[in-house]
Amino acid sequence: MSFPYNDIVLEHFKNPRNIGSIENPDGKAMEGSPACGDMVSLYLKVDPKTLIITDIKFESYGCASNIATGSIITELAKGKTIGEAKKITWKQASDALGGLPSIKVHCSVLAVESLRAAIQNYEEKHGLITEKVETTEEVIRKRLKKVMNPIKGLDMVTTNLVKEVSVKDGIVHISIDLPENHQFANAIKSDAIEKIETLWDVKEINIDFTE
Ligand code: FES
Repeated sequence: MSFPYNDIVLEHFKNPRNIGSIENPDGKAMEGSPACGDMVSLYLKVDPKTLIITDIKFESYGCASNIATGSIITELAKGKTIGEAKKITWKQASDALGGLPSIKVHCSVLAVESLRAAIQNYEEKHGLITEKVETTEEVIRKRLKKVMNPIKGLDMVTTNLVKEVSVKDGIVHISIDLPENHQFANAIKSDAIEKIETLWDVKEINIDFTE
């Protein structure tokens, strides 16, 4: 099945700008699309004084639309402040690409969401979050939905790896349904910690495994 991609989309797909990763990024995110299961990683370097995005790179494990949108969105965001970049919409990205087939909207949404998530990660790490929502069990589960279970190739919540979650006075407890010596146990644990530790009111994270 072929989609009617225009020349701009095809050009960005064939020669994507800002592809790759950044070592020691100031902000990063990995987002997956519930619609197709594809993933995008996005990395940022931000000037702490001006909050301008000085460098931005992405890696896409998605389709041509997704790669083209990642390319255009990183172009649009580079040189903007994080506040300005947060406001870039998928519509702007799609317009800059001369339009995408409607069946491919979720692919551009995924690229835009990764940009917003990487900015949010930067803001959390630098104490710049102004809307301080209390961390609840639901917030933790939402974050864990972004942690991949490599055994199944889907997130750890959907694949029932999360047995229990509790939060009390900033202390988070998570029980993972895997033996502690499982080959992926450590990778999943550190990924889960990375997703949660930046939340403003989290003081301690305890993760245990089933025997
Ligand atoms: Fe998955 Fe486009 S179909 S990102």
